[in-house]
Amino acid sequence: MAVKRKTIRDVLDLYRAQTPISMVTAYDYTCARLVERAGIDTILVGDSLGNVIQGHDTTLPVTIEDIIYHTRAVMRGNQSAHVIADMPFMSYQASDDDGVKNAGRLLKEGGAQSVKVEGGAALGPMIERMTGAGIPVVGHLGLTPQSIHAFGGYRVQGRGEAAATRLIEDARALQDAGIFMLVLEMVPAALAQTVTEALQIPTIGIGAGNATSGQVLVLYDLLGMNNDFRPKFVKQYANLESDIVAALERYRDEVRARVFPGEEHAF
Ligand code: KIV
Repeated sequence: MAVKRKTIRDVLDLYRAQTPISMVTAYDYTCARLVERAGIDTILVGDSLGNVIQGHDTTLPVTIEDIIYHTRAVMRGNQSAHVIADMPFMSYQASDDDGVKNAGRLLKEGGAQSVKVEGGAALGPMIERMTGAGIPVVGHLGLTPQSIHAFGGYRVQGRGEAAATRLIEDARALQDAGIFMLVLEMVPAALAQTVTEALQIPTIGIGAGNATSGQVLVLYDLLGMNNDFRPKFVKQYANLESDIVAALERYRDEVRARVFPGEEHAF
């Protein structure tokens, strides 16, 4: 039977049925294929690829071309998940025109079904133009890594009454502007619950407790690909760093010992 890709309607149906929405990041064909086999609802082609694929300290160097390239690969590997492409740093901050055009490129050239932007109420007019152009938009509040230098480090956001109130107001403003889903990153669980209850769209948490409408993790984090990076909010469901290194060491040893290739691998 042909697999049907989830649309924003399917994602919103999960929300209305109070079924928690699963999301992971993916950046390439092979992983996206495995994500399909696991039946994950949504994929974010995140600008976290700047960290885990490109090896940068921040997401800031990621370009719109990078996201288009990786989104294409993900679309080829996965036919079932709703695919969201991240708008990278400076693809929408300088002008709304830039934002609308670059969002359009992610759908037109990358094949994504929706885009994600980081930021609060100030993005409202641009989001209205994007949705007006038929581009579904996901918001992102809390710890927004593209503002890392303004935050002065990766830390929990929305602590204290004033910050919490601002975050709730931003969430409402984004919803009013037309986003269909909101990522909440590194905010206190109680605040994430308040925001979730205040909105009529799904919230997706990362380091935001268990009361959001769904969860997202960076694929490489949940698979334990880098044991040097283990923030509190990440649960490792595998330890692929150990497994992969052990496999590579075995291969190296067998090459050195002329055990590999065996007769069965030769022509
Ligand atoms: O880029 C990314 O992977 C993200 C998630 C962590 C939400 O924005």
